[in-house]
Amino acid sequence: MSALRIAVAGAGGRMGQAVLRAISESPDFTIAGALVRENSRNGELPYAGKALVTGDASAAIGSADAIVDFSSPECSAALAELAGKARLPHVIGTTGFSAEQDARIAAAASQIVIVKSGNMSLGVTLLTKLVREAARALPYFDIEILEMHHRIKTDAPSGTALLLGGAAAEGRNVSLDDLKTLQRNGARKPGTIGFASLRGGTVVGEHQVILAGPHERIMLSHSAEDRTIFACGALAAARWAQDKPPGLYSMADVLGIPG
Ligand SMILES: NC(=O)c1ccc[n+]([C@@H]2O[C@H](COP(=O)([O-])OP(=O)(O)OC[C@H]3O[C@@H](n4cnc5c(N)ncnc54)[C@H](OP(=O)(O)O)[C@@H]3O)[C@@H](O)[C@H]2O)c1
Repeated sequence: MSALRIAVAGAGGRMGQAVLRAISESPDFTIAGALVRENSRNGELPYAGKALVTGDASAAIGSADAIVDFSSPECSAALAELAGKARLPHVIGTTGFSAEQDARIAAAASQIVIVKSGNMSLGVTLLTKLVREAARALPYFDIEILEMHHRIKTDAPSGTALLLGGAAAEGRNVSLDDLKTLQRNGARKPGTIGFASLRGGTVVGEHQVILAGPHERIMLSHSAEDRTIFACGALAAARWAQDKPPGLYSMADVLGIPG
């Protein structure tokens, strides 16, 4: 198996650096290019080695076999279109997309493999399945999703919380968009799926799905202890994508966890 050449987008960020580090520690991957924002506040990339570090997206992906992208919604949507033209698999870990940005990514997926997930870890991918099954089995239990992340995170609720909420809604054959409650004032409306977001310190990612029924509760939770789990999941997705037909895929597809 030859080393897969990865273009890393958002290379100066927390996740970008975790991806660069995971690549530098593996014989299965090499860095084809590191895409940073022009005039970025981030300077040194200690794990980039001699790779091209650039603000030019075309140059960053020019010699790559796949793109691994934890950047910003604007950057990822534009990169999906560029990847479509370059016929390059695109692994998107970025969260917080608008409906318009999601539609641009879905359009690009008619030309290339895009793996997109609000959480690239094995644990959350499995948790998603458990939540779907629990929501289906307990149709009258109230569902609340609690998450906590570091103080600099910009989107809320987290992409993972929305992923888990989507799984709960799927389990009940309802639409999350119709039932999600991001702010509450007054009594709980039956059938809604509530979200609460905490921000502080350096927390990598904590998620808890609470199913509350009469006189009992089930709590399904995941704790991310290190960003390596997301980086390694994204790299596994880049490898998996190499021989797949164009389409928009999830980490459940990559890990072979049926819905
Ligand atoms: N799916 C998952 O498993 C998972 C796990 C963790 C995080 N995430 C998501 O991944 C994203 C990044 O998270 P993070 O914690 O690494 O954030 P971060 O530290 O803020 O890193 C984001 C990086 O992207 C760069 N960037 C933004 N716009 C760009 C552009 N137009 N061109 C090139 N680079 C650009 C930023 O540059 P500047 O430094 O100049 O701003 C920054 O270096 C977030 O959406 C987060 O929610 C997903």
